[in-house]
Amino acid sequence: MVIADEVYGHLVFGNTHFVPMGVFGSIVPVLTLGSISKRWIVPGWRLGWLVTSDPNGILQDLGIVDSIKSFLNISSDPATFIQGAVPQILEKTEEEFFSKITDILREAADICCDRLKEIPCITCPKKPEGSMFVMALTATRNLLSSWLKRNQ
Ligand SMILES: Cc1ncc(COP(=O)(O)O)c(C=O)c1O
Repeated sequence: MVIADEVYGHLVFGNTHFVPMGVFGSIVPVLTLGSISKRWIVPGWRLGWLVTSDPNGILQDLGIVDSIKSFLNISSDPATFIQGAVPQILEKTEEEFFSKITDILREAADICCDRLKEIPCITCPKKPEGSMFVMALTATRNLLSSWLKRNQ
């Protein structure tokens, strides 16, 4: 079984096309999780969903779907006002909102990677093509040895 956390699936802005794992459901059952917090930029709203892609019924036969449902019955739900807002959010958000978000994220990634180049001992090995993160490497060993040389 593949568990695919695809909360950033709609926040892709690079050249690489996003492929949801669910398309491989006939090869291996896929449990995909999504969340409203990233695509709509509402961190902390704690509202998401689980989707199974399981055309061969493996998760169903093993009782995994029932097990997930029973767990959802005992876990706490998102706040009532958030649940109340969901229909409007889903129905009324215009496409332009999403494209603006990805434009902002692309711009932020560009700025962040460019600025990182100016900082010695920090490198950005790959410019992000999605989500809200930039992975940076610190050359701590070099940094430490040059600091030691300076301070001996
Ligand atoms: C990779 C990933 N999955 C899931 C979540 C959870 O999202 P939520 O804000 O809906 O709790 C986060 C939140 O930061 C995340 O980064």
